[in-house]
Amino acid sequence: MTPPGRPCRLVVCRGCCCGTAKKRPGVDHEGQLERLRGLRDGDGREVPVRTSTCLGICFQANVVVVQPSSAGRERGGRPVWIGGFTEDRLIDDLDTWVHDGGPGAAPLPESLAERVTSKDAEKPKKDKKAKKGKKEKKEKKEKKKSGRP
Ligand code: FES
Repeated sequence: MTPPGRPCRLVVCRGCCCGTAKKRPGVDHEGQLERLRGLRDGDGREVPVRTSTCLGICFQANVVVVQPSSAGRERGGRPVWIGGFTEDRLIDDLDTWVHDGGPGAAPLPESLAERVTSKDAEKPKKDKKAKKGKKEKKEKKEKKKSGRP
């Protein structure tokens, strides 16, 4: 018998950066999306996957949001945003987690917990020293061009 309510659902960002070789080279983005589309929960229900446009935290690409099942939500589960979702082993861990119930129903695997983020995550500021270094290089280059010592 199928349990009542909705299963966990996934929102997989496929905007300007997530899922692109330009932002995350060396990742089989299409293959990963296919694998995510094949996930099933512990009751054998298909885990619906929706792709979305940019979720606004591109520096964390690839971003996946795990929505709780109805049962998980009743137990306090809320959507979990995961950034840096690029490794195949993370799909294995997500598969296990969703199979066990997902948000609100099962503990978050450590590998995913390390990558939890949010829609309000702020991009880390660039190191000022690095910026200064660039400026110094530019000045040095200009001096060289002008022939000044
Ligand atoms: S493209 Fe995924 S957060 Fe921007």
